[in-house]
Amino acid sequence: MKTAIRMTSVAFACVLSNVAMAQDAGDPVKGEDLFRNCLACHELKSESGERIRRGGRAGPNLYGVIGRPAGGLEGYRYSEGLNALNASGLVWDEQNLAHFMANPNGFLEETLGEGHISKMPFAFPTGDVDIAAYLAQVGQSGS
Ligand code: HEC
Repeated sequence: MKTAIRMTSVAFACVLSNVAMAQDAGDPVKGEDLFRNCLACHELKSESGERIRRGGRAGPNLYGVIGRPAGGLEGYRYSEGLNALNASGLVWDEQNLAHFMANPNGFLEETLGEGHISKMPFAFPTGDVDIAAYLAQVGQSGS
């Protein structure tokens, strides 16, 4: 009987940690919907030229941004802040991209020190990990 109870609580703990992991990793389905908040300034256009999401061009194309060096899209004129981030060797992953999105200037300050600012005039603290998960998925589709 005691064993049965212990087994149950182990199983329960596993379920709980799975839930926690799912939250940490972000939900790409939610992120796809939330990405509408970014379309005013960002499009998702694949290497083969397919427009996965139509959007503005004030900001860089975010297709394949996960795994890309920050400030690293050729032909886009980045701010001093993003160029400095590029020089620091930072590569976007889901975690740092979510942090940047939640507070672009705060992220630059934490990463590079004071005095660096981004020209992304927008902070998106809610759903940032979901959007990062979506961007990771889109970039991997290879289309
Ligand atoms: C009002 C316009 C605007 C909106 C809305 C906007 N951005 Fe941006 N974003 C920019 C600009 C401009 C830059 C270039 C920043 C720079 O050079 O400092 C940028 C840069 C970025 C970068 C860095 C890309 C790189 O190549 O290093 C990421 C990542 C990013 N934005 C994500 C997002 C996401 C995700 C959203 C939606 C939640 C979003 N942005 C909404 C204007 C915008």
